[in-house]
Parts: sequence; C-alpha cells; structure tokens
Amino acid sequence: MRLRHKPWIKAAIEELKDDYVYLGDAAKNKGQWHQLLGKETLAVEIGCGKGNFIVGMAQLHPEQGFVGVETQEEIAYYPAHKAQEQELKNVKIIAGDATDLEEWFEPGEIDMLYLNFSDPWPKARHYKRRLTYRDFLHKYKQLLKPGGHLRFKTDNRPLFDFSLVEFQEFGLEIIALSYDLHHSDYDNPVQTEYEAKFSALGNKINFCEAVFK
Ligand SMILES: C[S@@+](CC[C@H](N)C(=O)[O-])C[C@H]1O[C@@H](n2cnc3c(N)ncnc32)[C@H](O)[C@@H]1O
Repeated sequence: MRLRHKPWIKAAIEELKDDYVYLGDAAKNKGQWHQLLGKETLAVEIGCGKGNFIVGMAQLHPEQGFVGVETQEEIAYYPAHKAQEQELKNVKIIAGDATDLEEWFEPGEIDMLYLNFSDPWPKARHYKRRLTYRDFLHKYKQLLKPGGHLRFKTDNRPLFDFSLVEFQEFGLEIIALSYDLHHSDYDNPVQTEYEAKFSALGNKINFCEAVFK
C-alpha cells in the first residue's frame, strides 16, 4: 500500500502515542499485553493497513484484546485514529515490521494471528519476504500459544497457493479452506479495505485457517 506523503501525520501520530499506537517502543509491553488490554485473549493482525479489520474486530469483540502491526508509520496513524474516535480500549497499534515480532511478544502470548491481503511479493527472488514464508511461520509458532490459530485471507491466488504449500510443509493443520470466501459458509464478520475493494471488482477471496500443533 502506498500513500501520498502527508507531513501532518508525524505530529498527529505523536498525539496518539501510548494510548493507541507504539512508535519504536512496543517492547516495553512484552509479556504484558493481556494485562494492558485487560483481556484474556490476544489476537494480532500483521500488516493491518488502515485498520478496518482490526478496529472492526475490536468493536465487535469487546471481550478480546487486539494488536495491529503496520510497518509504514504514515499508514499506522489511521487504525490508531479510528480506535481513538471509537474510544476503544481493547486495541493497540504497533508501527513496526513483523521481522521484529519477538521483540514485542513473549513466547505463547498470542492466541490468534490474522494475515489479511499480505503483500504478495510476486517476483520469485523475493519469496522470503512473504509473510507466509517458513521463517515467519517459525516466529508465529514461537509466539502463538500451543494450538494457536492463523487465519489468512487474500485475493491473490499465486500467494495463496504458495502459502498453502508453506503451511503444509511446516506441518500446520488446515482446518478451513475456501477459494471463494464470500460464497462459502465460513463466517467473515469484518472485511478489510483491500477485501472490500477487490471483491467489488469481482475478485474471489481465498481463505484458510491453520492450527500450529
Ligand atoms: C496490501 S496491504 C493490506 C492492508 C490490509 N490488511 C487490508 O487487507 O486491507 C498490506 C499492508 O501490510 C503492510 N506490511 C507489509 N509488510 C509488512 C511487515 N513485514 N510488517 C508489518 N506490516 C507489513 C504494508 O505496509 C501494507 O499496509
């Protein structure tokens, strides 16, 4: 996702620091997220973009805690601002890159991971950057509680096919799979920005849920 440079965001995001967003200091909450959010379960979305999903889920599930991770600070402002507008206390945003996940979370601290419309990195030589590549799966396994789940949505079929192979080779159990989520029986309570945009263009949405054993 690319945004036109908006110089005002730098000051605006500073105003949301700690209450709604962490800028380079999320590690101070390592092992404390359940307590901080006041919830027994913690769900994390990696690459949350402008936050329709993570903020929508936090609104829909006040009994759960949510953290959205977004590497572009200028984009991370938007979910944090949405959470502030809705006065949500059960969602925080980390402006940072998923390669640093172990700095922010303790092993076993996360109950559920969401990957929605992750960047596809279509060039073959960039496959290690895909968020479903096995090196990332190793991180997720460490940070998820035993038996934790990963839910993944994308309209990008080559990325989906690549991911299914990675999941299977890593030994994950696939417990849900659809190549057309919007015409399936699976629940899909909150759409992401990309999901709304690309399904409106007629793209089918692929979905799977996998369990780390
Ligand atoms: C294609 S957008 C999808 C946004 C949103 N999830 C949606 O479905 O509408 C992918 C987002 O993931 C972010 N992203 C990509 N790689 C990331 C990483 N390694 N760590 C954190 N965020 C990342 C990008 O900056 C971008 O905002």
